[in-house]
Amino acid sequence: MITSIRLVNFKNFADETLRVGPLTIIVGANASGKSNIRDAFRFLHGIGRGYTLAEIIGGKYGPGGQREWEPIRGATNEIFRQSPPSGGSEPSFSLEVELNLNGTQLCYSIAVGRFMEGNLDRNIPDGLGPFRVLKEELRTESGTVYTASLPGYDLVAHPPDSLSVKVEESPKREFRTPTHQPVLTQYVMPGRTSRLLNDQHSIALRSALADMRFLDPLPERMREPSFPGATVLGDYGDNLSTALQEIRADAEREESLASWVQELTPMDVKDFEFPLDPSGRVHLTIREKNDKKVSAYSTSDGTLRFLAILTALLGKNPAGVYFFEEIDTGIHPARQWLLLELIEKQAAKRGIQVVTTTHSPDLLTFVNDGTFKHLTVICRLEDSQDAIIRQVAKLPNAQDLRTSKGGLGRLLAENWMETALAFTEENDEAEDNKG
Ligand SMILES: Nc1ncnc2c1ncn2[C@@H]1O[C@H](COP(=O)(O)OP(=O)(O)OP(=O)(O)O)[C@@H](O)[C@H]1O
Ligand SMILES: [Mg+2]
Repeated sequence: MITSIRLVNFKNFADETLRVGPLTIIVGANASGKSNIRDAFRFLHGIGRGYTLAEIIGGKYGPGGQREWEPIRGATNEIFRQSPPSGGSEPSFSLEVELNLNGTQLCYSIAVGRFMEGNLDRNIPDGLGPFRVLKEELRTESGTVYTASLPGYDLVAHPPDSLSVKVEESPKREFRTPTHQPVLTQYVMPGRTSRLLNDQHSIALRSALADMRFLDPLPERMREPSFPGATVLGDYGDNLSTALQEIRADAEREESLASWVQELTPMDVKDFEFPLDPSGRVHLTIREKNDKKVSAYSTSDGTLRFLAILTALLGKNPAGVYFFEEIDTGIHPARQWLLLELIEKQAAKRGIQVVTTTHSPDLLTFVNDGTFKHLTVICRLEDSQDAIIRQVAKLPNAQDLRTSKGGLGRLLAENWMETALAFTEENDEAEDNKG
């Protein structure tokens, strides 16, 4: 599982680290940087999928011309942190991810910059030309697996056009490779490595990065019928009917589905039906307690969104990490605690990690102790463009206030987290100045 992500000069983060748990809830004002964190996860996931840097950042079209991967949000160069008052952008960004994979602690980092081929008279990346890997490293607790760097590159060196890779594990090796794609995926195909990078940690890391999903359920997509056998729920909730059918084929998951559906949906759902249309596509119909049947076309948006989240968490072969943007969207406050409980329980039971952003005080009111540890606030302090990332549990008095009237929900609604954070940062700064 992923234990932390560090963002350096990535969008509005100068150097911040997000601690990641089984369920990580991210709160913060509009434009504080919550979705920028999602972009960082997507960047890492794009690496896992084996894309080049240009594809990860700019989007990827498949062989049939269909879009296989959406670009990272924002204008191309806005992935680098803008650093007023000097005005310009940073010449590079880096991401570092720590993971615990089968009991081994791994740390992978990648630095990316942009500059023209052969632009040797410049001594920093120029923000033009292709994106290039500047530095890449994979370490375990027992040592370095490999390092890759542009020879001499340390943010002020000349930009040569190939990376020099050193593999530290035996047998030791050195080779040079193009800069347009992470070394990790130039040499590690899913499930196997090449002769140049034949090590189990690289394989495990690539699979872990590939094993993320970014769900953004859209009711209109969930209402569409799907093709028999298409049992993977799409990122927009497509294939809902066939994915639900798949869950019902397994007695244990079917039972979970039935009990959660009963609790989560306001009208008593008794069962699902899956009628076929003349073209052979599978539709979804919900049968209520009184035997009234409602097709997915008329099912409410909130009910469909519940079903999508439920289906993602109960489906076969769940991903290692799910990222949900604003999970509370369209869900009545009185049911948000159930949604939270669903995620906490299923994540624990199936070893799934969930990261979500939210603006909902009601969702926070009932977080359990484990989730509280990973409740995170993103905040831009008044006199700074940059955002900071802090665990709410570490803010002064947070533990006590959590159990006071209104709990965390009230603290969110009253902006307490930002205020407490500004206060502690000011104090820290004063201490630093004294020291
Ligand atoms: N390259 C960059 N350099 C500095 N700041 C940036 C950069 N790119 C984006 N930002 C900042 O990030 C903000 C957008 O952040 P983001 O979309 O993550 O907000 P959010 O917390 O998800 O807000 P909401 O709750 O409204 O969705 C922009 O308004 C801008 O201030
Ligand atoms: Mg957002």
